[in-house]
Amino acid sequence: MRDELSTFRFTDSCGLALAGLLLAASAATGGAFEGRIVDDDQAPVVGAMVTAERGSPARGVTVFSDASGYFRLPELDSGHFELRVRRIGWRDHRSGLTLPAEPLAIVLERETDPAAVAAQLPANRWFGLFLEQIDDPVEREEFVRQCTYCHQQGSLAMRVPREDWQWEKILVLMARMGGVLSPEVRAQVPDWFRAAYDPETAVPRLTHGMGTATFAPPPPPDVRVAVIDEWVLGGRSSMQHDLVVHPSGHVYSVDMMQDTLFRLDPQTGAIASFEIPDQGLPLGGELATAGSPMPPNANAHVGPHSLQVAPDGSIWTTLALGNRLGRFDPESETWSIHRMTEGIYPHTLRIDESGRIWFTIAVSNHLGRFDPASNSFDTIRLPAGTWTQALVLRLLPAMLWMAEYFELGSDAAGEGALSLPVPYGIDIAPDGDVWFSQLNQHKIGRVDPDTLEVELIDTPFTAPRRLRFDSTGQLWIPGFSSGLIARFDPATRTFQTWPLPQRPRGSETPYALHVDRRTDTVWICGTNSDTLIRFEPQTERFSVFPLPTRVTYTREIDFDAAGRVWTSNSNLPTWQIERGQPRVIRLDPGAPAGTLTGILTGSLAEPPAGVVAAR
Ligand code: HEC
Repeated sequence: MRDELSTFRFTDSCGLALAGLLLAASAATGGAFEGRIVDDDQAPVVGAMVTAERGSPARGVTVFSDASGYFRLPELDSGHFELRVRRIGWRDHRSGLTLPAEPLAIVLERETDPAAVAAQLPANRWFGLFLEQIDDPVEREEFVRQCTYCHQQGSLAMRVPREDWQWEKILVLMARMGGVLSPEVRAQVPDWFRAAYDPETAVPRLTHGMGTATFAPPPPPDVRVAVIDEWVLGGRSSMQHDLVVHPSGHVYSVDMMQDTLFRLDPQTGAIASFEIPDQGLPLGGELATAGSPMPPNANAHVGPHSLQVAPDGSIWTTLALGNRLGRFDPESETWSIHRMTEGIYPHTLRIDESGRIWFTIAVSNHLGRFDPASNSFDTIRLPAGTWTQALVLRLLPAMLWMAEYFELGSDAAGEGALSLPVPYGIDIAPDGDVWFSQLNQHKIGRVDPDTLEVELIDTPFTAPRRLRFDSTGQLWIPGFSSGLIARFDPATRTFQTWPLPQRPRGSETPYALHVDRRTDTVWICGTNSDTLIRFEPQTERFSVFPLPTRVTYTREIDFDAAGRVWTSNSNLPTWQIERGQPRVIRLDPGAPAGTLTGILTGSLAEPPAGVVAAR
């Protein structure tokens, strides 16, 4: 085996002098890794992701190489790191390195095996081939909505060749967990998978033009200035569903499968975890009687799902499986749990100015409101789409209870798929109105916070998911199965939509978006393509930021005081994620788009003195 380190060539005394200067500038750190990346022909490799990682749990930081192949990671503590350099079309370069280090010259080797290059592509590129198999747009939409909300589609785990009986087993399991397909769609699924992911046809199509400049081009200059931090949080059976940035600067994340709240201090890297009391509920919580299977090694009794910070600094979370809300006091580090009076599966929550908690209740088609001042719940029944839906929803508590005796949801699951409306995203407008989406119903709605009157509006696109207001009261909505974002103006009741830039169209499934209200920049989860996507409404421009870990399924976004973007790697099951553990991710976009052209064509395009190209 070739010694990986031998591809590093260290520079002359000039480089040493530079490293010395860096050390002197900040005595507390070991300096920074920097250097140049070139290919076998000595040409710079532009836009390669350079990651330094260490520790257990692992902490990593990633930058991109610039137009001359030059990179510089942030200052790090001295010691040993794993370095990885990655770009689609080249082999991953890995080595162990110690700081302080001299500037590096790294040679990246071209990947010449088409199957290996195809395997480097994000899931959405493969999923595009799958979508081509489905002629009927209604069936296509159903598959996307029902089969992409726990894990990516098109990732490696999906592409394993399987016989009919294996697919049958998988589809029964998926249906029991909630991924229910109508019988017509379900019958065709095995053939679609086999046809789409047959390497004989898929690899040549995905790698067409491989080795040329237009194949998998590097990210543009405004993306390449980003710095991405990752912290492994939780174990191999964890699921970091949502996170929130606390005014203290700490980041809190809920592990839905392990009933745990995590706290990360990004300054020190310290991680604390707080178990959420199980309330005496069985595994699976209040839904356990419905016989839904849990992912392997789950320890979910209350199932924390979504979380927000209240005006008093406390943290509230929906306990989806426990039909409860939890409040965590960061001072005393204690919990208080509030049991709902009605409704099944509290989902996403937002908190209004007076501290009242508003939340969607997904399974039973309600909205909830909890007032901590009076310790009281209000539950609002939302309109259903059809009479059958309305009837099922009214009978739902009894059905769940009966399931204990009749094993609802085992063999029967998936036979007569009835899709429920599923209230989903929720946000509070600057004027205090509460808006929400009904995912499967393709509607958004408004609740009057005083009268609790409800109004529903059809969306001109499918599957509105986690929506957010900007500072001016415009509502931004991701279309999960339609691969777009929309802006809704509550004053004129009009929608405007923009398809996401990922190709092929429709292969991206934006789970959530959030608006940085200081600039009204919209950030979108590139859930199926391992990316975060920025949209600037003024220029209507998208920028796509690739993330370093494959199968980075993301569900929620928040911002810190410095305008950095936080999300978590939340694929369920965890084993499908590259390296098998979830991560919390911070993206520093560097500079607002549109301000960089001058800088990049200037000094940064040339490597600083002391960094010499490998020759
Ligand atoms: C409610 C969450 C959820 C939904 C929705 C869902 N899945 Fe899954 N999927 C899982 C989990 C959890 C696993 C891992 C199961 C395990 O490890 O035992 C999984 C695993 C898989 C696997 C890999 C199986 C293996 O063992 O290698 C495939 C393929 C798959 N899902 C396809 C689908 C399809 C097709 C749909 C739509 C019908 C779907 N999934 C919907 C949660 C879900």
